[in-house]
Amino acid sequence: MKVVVTKSYDESCAYVADMICKLVNEKPACKLGLATGGTPVPMYKKLIEANKAGKVDFSAVRTVNLDEYCGIPGTHDQSYRYFMDSNLFDHINIDKANTYVAKGLGDAQANAAELEAKVREGGAADLQLLGIGNNGHIAFNEAADVLHATAHIEQLTESTINANARFFEKKEDVPTTAITMGMGDILAAKCVVLIATGLAKTSAIKGLIMDDVITTQNPSSMLKMHENVVVVIDEELAAAVGYKA
Ligand code: PGA
Repeated sequence: MKVVVTKSYDESCAYVADMICKLVNEKPACKLGLATGGTPVPMYKKLIEANKAGKVDFSAVRTVNLDEYCGIPGTHDQSYRYFMDSNLFDHINIDKANTYVAKGLGDAQANAAELEAKVREGGAADLQLLGIGNNGHIAFNEAADVLHATAHIEQLTESTINANARFFEKKEDVPTTAITMGMGDILAAKCVVLIATGLAKTSAIKGLIMDDVITTQNPSSMLKMHENVVVVIDEELAAAVGYKA
């Protein structure tokens, strides 16, 4: 695992945006696994800027997103389809037909099966972007006694519902279930890039980069079994976990 410590969150976002631009320039028809959440938003802004400046062309890129809430349509302003459109896809020259975010409405099992098929279609993602939950979740694979390998329906934990309540009018509006890629889906990517910032992530990141333990109670710790993982954190978070480059 490669740990990159940057001076600031903004620099972390620039680092990851740069990685993605380089990949797309080298392989224009690459497959990207994308993530939602607060963390990647400034990074997506940098991709938009790079695209508008003619430095990267997304016209042949395919994307599959990690997860989607159950029970809300893609038009809902907190759905991950809406998030991806408004924070990235609507502002770059990607073909929306080449972007996939799982469906939030309809038969959840069928929607999970469709996500799994999209993960496999055309082979492994060239790069999978990840954030991390305060509890160490990646995508919506929540800390538990067992984890799932493939796409499935996940019951969200209190910690995740509380963390995501800031995006909704009230906590009761946060969906309690979601469709998510499984751990095997994430680990199948050729390269995994995880970006984290903020002291709420201290314990999760400590479990990922400091402890020599793999545990389902911190799903991110399974990334230690992948040979091409890049964790990008800023100095503040590195200091909090006691990481020295
Ligand atoms: P955040 O979420 O970027 O909003 O902190 C990350 C996650 O839950 O994976």
